[in-house]
Amino acid sequence: MVKIGIIGAGTNASGHARYYATCGRSKVVWVMDPLAARAQSLAKEVGARPLDDFRWGLSDVDAVIVASPNPLHRDQAVAAADAGKHLYCEKPMGMSLLEAREIASAVNRAKVKSQVGFAVRFGKVIQQMEQLSRAGTLGPIVAMWSRRLVWMDPAKAPGWRADPVQSGGVLMEVNIHELEWMLHLGGPVESVYSVTRSNHPHPRANDHLWFVLRFRNGATGMHEGSWLSSEACFGRGVRGTDAAAFTDEWGTKLFFARQGLSRDEYKVTTPDLDPRSNFLDAIERNTPTLADANWGLKVMAVAEAILESAASGQPAKPAE
Ligand SMILES: NC(=O)c1ccc[n+]([C@@H]2O[C@H](COP(=O)([O-])OP(=O)(O)OC[C@H]3O[C@@H](n4cnc5c(N)ncnc54)[C@H](O)[C@@H]3O)[C@@H](O)[C@H]2O)c1
Repeated sequence: MVKIGIIGAGTNASGHARYYATCGRSKVVWVMDPLAARAQSLAKEVGARPLDDFRWGLSDVDAVIVASPNPLHRDQAVAAADAGKHLYCEKPMGMSLLEAREIASAVNRAKVKSQVGFAVRFGKVIQQMEQLSRAGTLGPIVAMWSRRLVWMDPAKAPGWRADPVQSGGVLMEVNIHELEWMLHLGGPVESVYSVTRSNHPHPRANDHLWFVLRFRNGATGMHEGSWLSSEACFGRGVRGTDAAAFTDEWGTKLFFARQGLSRDEYKVTTPDLDPRSNFLDAIERNTPTLADANWGLKVMAVAEAILESAASGQPAKPAE
């Protein structure tokens, strides 16, 4: 049984805690949250003990899940890896490229397994688009696109999400998922051009986001994101020279079209990937994870270039 400690007892941490307490391959040893009542309630539910400082529990576990607010990820992830614990770090992997580097360095130094919570790419519809593209069915990729628009007014959301400095804005908190699946399929990025908007004065604040990625292989990635959008959309697509695979506006139905001839619904046969069980596989069998800290670092390098381009008004090159 893999012994797990969970940092945070909010919505996301609760999902992790319930999974790892019931999957039969692990047990949750402790749950840490400064809100004692939350830690106690979740700990009781999953048969663990509540903690108010995760450092006291590090020696009792094999792995740590960091599911606290975004600005805490760096310090907590580094402390866990430095203690030799396998690390499941929720996205974003830090608030900046600098923080991501620190996390990846700690993981590499300690030679522990790591997983970054890029849950969106693990869904079956994106898996199917990726599979169709990798199988050559679409031809070489011309463009990938996504639109992720919601009304989630941060001014009305309680706590850390309301503060763009703590959440990292719509890019770090939500749209990093869209960036990640495009990078996974498209490969290295040559340059990025982006525009952001926010009423908050902080230079990295972003509530609306548009970016264009120029991939080294000639493909283009385009994204529009907002959490202050009156209309909602979760559409995505991959367009090749021969055919395109793309979703409906909710991202749930997949369509296939070849050279403008037809537009047919495509039966999705790929399963959802399960990053939580994959993390246990990696620990038990010494296999790779779906999205380790070195991959998280590559994603953050492009996210950083997106913010750089938005600030300068010029295209930016992601750091190597
Ligand atoms: N992968 C995904 O799709 C996905 C989905 C939702 C959230 N998340 C991520 O999970 C993390 C948590 O999000 P959430 O929705 O559960 O937020 P939440 O606000 O529901 O929970 C955050 C919890 O962290 C606690 N906390 C505050 N300070 C802490 C500290 N110093 N140490 C430990 N815990 C502390 C809070 O008391 C709260 O209980 C965020 O990083 C978020 O981006 C990822």
